[in-house]
Amino acid sequence: MISARDRAEALIQELSPLDRRVADAMRAVPRHLFVPPVALASFDGEDARVIDREADPRDWWDAVYSDIPIITQLDDGTTDLRTASGTSTSSCSAPGIVARFLELLDPEPGTRVLEIGTGTGWTAALLSHLVGAANVTSIEVDPVVAERAAKNLSEAGFQPHLIVGDGAQGCASRGPFDRVHVTCGIRTVPYAWISQSRPGAVLVAPYSPGFQSDFQLRLVVTPTGVAQGRLPGLASYMLMRSQRAVPGRQPDETENKHHLTTRIDPRTIACAPAGADLAIGAMTGLTAHGSDEPDEDGERHRIWVSDPHDPDSWAVAIWRPDSEEYEVVQIGDRPVWEEVTDAYFRWVDWGEPDYDRFGMTIEPDGQRIWLDRPENPLPGPSPTGCLSGN
Ligand SMILES: C[S@@+](CC[C@H](N)C(=O)[O-])C[C@H]1O[C@@H](n2cnc3c(N)ncnc32)[C@H](O)[C@@H]1O
Repeated sequence: MISARDRAEALIQELSPLDRRVADAMRAVPRHLFVPPVALASFDGEDARVIDREADPRDWWDAVYSDIPIITQLDDGTTDLRTASGTSTSSCSAPGIVARFLELLDPEPGTRVLEIGTGTGWTAALLSHLVGAANVTSIEVDPVVAERAAKNLSEAGFQPHLIVGDGAQGCASRGPFDRVHVTCGIRTVPYAWISQSRPGAVLVAPYSPGFQSDFQLRLVVTPTGVAQGRLPGLASYMLMRSQRAVPGRQPDETENKHHLTTRIDPRTIACAPAGADLAIGAMTGLTAHGSDEPDEDGERHRIWVSDPHDPDSWAVAIWRPDSEEYEVVQIGDRPVWEEVTDAYFRWVDWGEPDYDRFGMTIEPDGQRIWLDRPENPLPGPSPTGCLSGN
């Protein structure tokens, strides 16, 4: 049996080059202390499957010391993990992306860190090693998850300050913070995290606007209480509870569906680069996801576009081989497919910028995405849902 220490070292080598302090933290805080005996793992894009420490120890250890997320909760705890089917709502994130976020955060010993999403407690322990546990405040919304994290942390020998509640509120009494480490996906940055931080503080978060691609976000807080920064990479995380999209409603047979056609190949949008996804999402406020699954009619590709706040507003555009025009089925009156394709061609007009040319500014009254410079904001969706401005 390979020792835990050797497994951790092999994983660190696989993830290298790593910042020396992050690598040291990963050596000092073994991941296996934070993974429950029964959990879910998916290797190389396979469907998630049960790992069971007692039934198949080798499989469990292999998963824990691989660069994959380990799912520890489904459907907010209402579905048994052993069914391996449902929406993942808590996990021990993949070590590679954990390391990249910690490198972006760049916490010095003694800096005060606010963490959102304690999960298993692993990242709270890594932060405790990096800055000292007394400087770490970690908030978890789910009481059952939070209780297990507290136990894991205590058994591993770390005592950060743990709070059970909605992380969007932050924790003013433990501020001002020098770093904010967010480990659940967000569509909007709660201003409390900025107002509770010191000028010069760094915030890192998975930014998940929901239009196909998800990003790493790094912001710096300025003395005027504004935060500004860029999207240095891609990262897909489970969404913060209060920011989940409402699921689209299936209309019954009697309801009115708009049957439209489009000359634009739906794969143009479905396979667009992450820069286009970012721009379209910011300009329309819509979300999208695609599927390649063939149906009984044979090969096809579908992309769903929906309003994350309105279950009655969505469209699906369907690609089939050898078509001159493609079918769009729209529910509700908002012309979501048209808005998406308009936004896509604006992005083409700008020279098809990749996501690293975009940035974000947060102010007390909201956030905006810009191209190249903060003075060049993208037009946001107007209240009528149509594109406004330039
Ligand atoms: C990817 S997991 C966190 C991984 C964790 N940092 C670790 O090392 O195991 C995301 C966590 O965010 C939590 N979460 C979701 N919404 C939240 C909220 N509003 N406030 C605090 N935590 C939240 C989820 O319950 C989940 O445990």
